Amino acid sequence: MEFRFKLSEFLDCEISKINKNLLPNTFSGDRRAAAKCIGYVSEIMDSMGIASAHAQALQKPITSAEKLRNSNYDVYLLVDFEANNGNGTVLGMLKVGRKNLYVFDVTGMSHEKKALCILDFYIYESSQRQGYGKWLFDHMLHGENILPQEMALDKPSEKLLAFLFKHYGLQTIIPHNNFIIFEGFFDYLKSEV
Ligand code: ACO
Repeated sequence: MEFRFKLSEFLDCEISKINKNLLPNTFSGDRRAAAKCIGYVSEIMDSMGIASAHAQALQKPITSAEKLRNSNYDVYLLVDFEANNGNGTVLGMLKVGRKNLYVFDVTGMSHEKKALCILDFYIYESSQRQGYGKWLFDHMLHGENILPQEMALDKPSEKLLAFLFKHYGLQTIIPHNNFIIFEGFFDYLKSEV
């Protein structure tokens, strides 16, 4: 996705982590630079949120600058600095955050867990199926120091389920209201006890 500004003006890395302050984790600059950067990041969050909602046939975006500002979630943003005549393009975003889940294991025992959840994952249409999603997801796993089976998914699409099966072998789905988890989630709970 192209924007009216040059991405390298305010982003240093191909993958940036952005939280509620709407600044990349690598940002260093004065207040004026910060205000400008927040404006740019807000535009990206709003546009990518709308595009992601369209791609998932959702009525309303689940990601926007305002929603991120009022949350404790993080967005990993993937960009290509060279594209668009050197102005750069945004290739994708991955929003993650912790939610309190009540889950039942196979014995029927309930567990309460603040699990890291995949909340919104989107690669720009023309860039899908080229490995960018895997790159972004792997970066997030490394950053969060977590395994894919330790995470929960908020209303995953068929494409996301196919993605997780292909790249991480995640197959056995355990539904929990709007969330799903995979086999292996409970091993992770046990290891935390
Ligand atoms: N149909 C079926 N499977 C797909 C599709 C598709 N159109 N696109 C990607 N995949 C899966 C397949 O397993 C594919 O492997 P294959 O091409 O050999 O069949 C694999 O993902 C490709 O891996 P990557 O190239 O690394 O993934 P990509 O960059 O396409 O990113 C993503 C995956 C994020 C799911 C992307 O396709 C996308 O943005 N889809 C539209 C939005 C969406 O559905 N997001 C998930 C919403 S649910 C949530 O966020 C909790």
